[in-house]
Amino acid sequence: MNPKMNRSLLVVSLLVALAMFLAACGGGATPTTAPVQPSGQATTAPQPAGEKLGVGIVLPTKDEPRWLQDEARFKEALTKAGYEVEILFSQGDSGKEKANVESLITKGVKVLIICPQDGTAAAAAAEAAKAAGVKVISYDRLIRDTEAVDYYVTFDSVAVGEAWGQYLIDNASGTGNNLYLYAGAPSDNNAFLFFEGAWNKLQPKIADGTFVIKNSSEAVALKDTAKLSRDEMAKIINQVTTEWKFDTAKNLAEANLTAAAAADKGTVFIVAPNDGTARAIADAFAADKDVTQYFVTGQDAEKASVQYIIDGKQSMTVLKDVRTLVDDAITAAVAYLSGGTPEKTNSYNNGKVDVPAKPSAIVTVTKDNVKAAIVDSGYYPAADFTGLP
Ligand code: BGC
Repeated sequence: MNPKMNRSLLVVSLLVALAMFLAACGGGATPTTAPVQPSGQATTAPQPAGEKLGVGIVLPTKDEPRWLQDEARFKEALTKAGYEVEILFSQGDSGKEKANVESLITKGVKVLIICPQDGTAAAAAAEAAKAAGVKVISYDRLIRDTEAVDYYVTFDSVAVGEAWGQYLIDNASGTGNNLYLYAGAPSDNNAFLFFEGAWNKLQPKIADGTFVIKNSSEAVALKDTAKLSRDEMAKIINQVTTEWKFDTAKNLAEANLTAAAAADKGTVFIVAPNDGTARAIADAFAADKDVTQYFVTGQDAEKASVQYIIDGKQSMTVLKDVRTLVDDAITAAVAYLSGGTPEKTNSYNNGKVDVPAKPSAIVTVTKDNVKAAIVDSGYYPAADFTGLP
């Protein structure tokens, strides 16, 4: 099905399900937030107090650009459907995240779409929601170590890491290529899935001498182990974590470069875990006079990184089309609101249970396909960039 048609169908089904839900729980009452007129203008009529919202959304932080994309895409999809749901940000604080969830429970949400700041810490919030009869959809990041997660809406995060590994392999030749590894925050389950994917591809090429790891003694110690346990991965991730922060990424890259000999530089291959950290790491490597060429990965197709790719300053990104994830989340919420269950093609173990999921595909973006993948696909307008190929 064409994605546009898919989205309009979703919008219609969302409307129908919300109407059914509202009729069921409030005798046809209107949602707490103002319905949007076809003109796109919100109505100004005051909403009666105590009415119930069907769906609440909690996102981790406004400080990592990725989540602003999700907020914008949720608003876009829901406005089209004529509804607004409340989107709350936890600002990197699991306490605030729990308070956000409690406030949505009080408002009477029936479905919670939540992207945890810290996968394990969010278990308490999920359990509070579950205890109140709310369906819990873990969004993009998996809530860990609890049974209180009904569904997981996600991209194929192992495939993201595999795309990084494959990209670096495709650009390397001979043996002894300098490899630098960086990871996301260990509190984010995705950091493990991304790393697992990268290791799936890179480990055989480390074992055969194509790459030599330059910045992680833990990874070097495990270089002959094809499948790492979570604890083994944690050892490496803890050593090379960026915490998803630009500054941490920059400082770590600079410290690694300071410790490395000139022979460990020259042409380098860098696993960077997302676009924000990739730009910080790329800038640090670009500033080192002993680095003559670098290949660096990323993900999220942030606008600044798309521009970096066009300018030759970042080598690749992984497009995770947030419109798809938002549609998947809305579809799952609609299924619950109308008494059904969302589609499952896969499941992810969260340390306690296997959580059903239907992971979405990802796309590798380089200078060669940036125009087709980002602009021609309608993801971002050409006017947002300069020098498009
Ligand atoms: C998301 C990435 C994002 C990162 C930092 C991960 O869980 O999957 O898209 O870049 O968090 O916010």
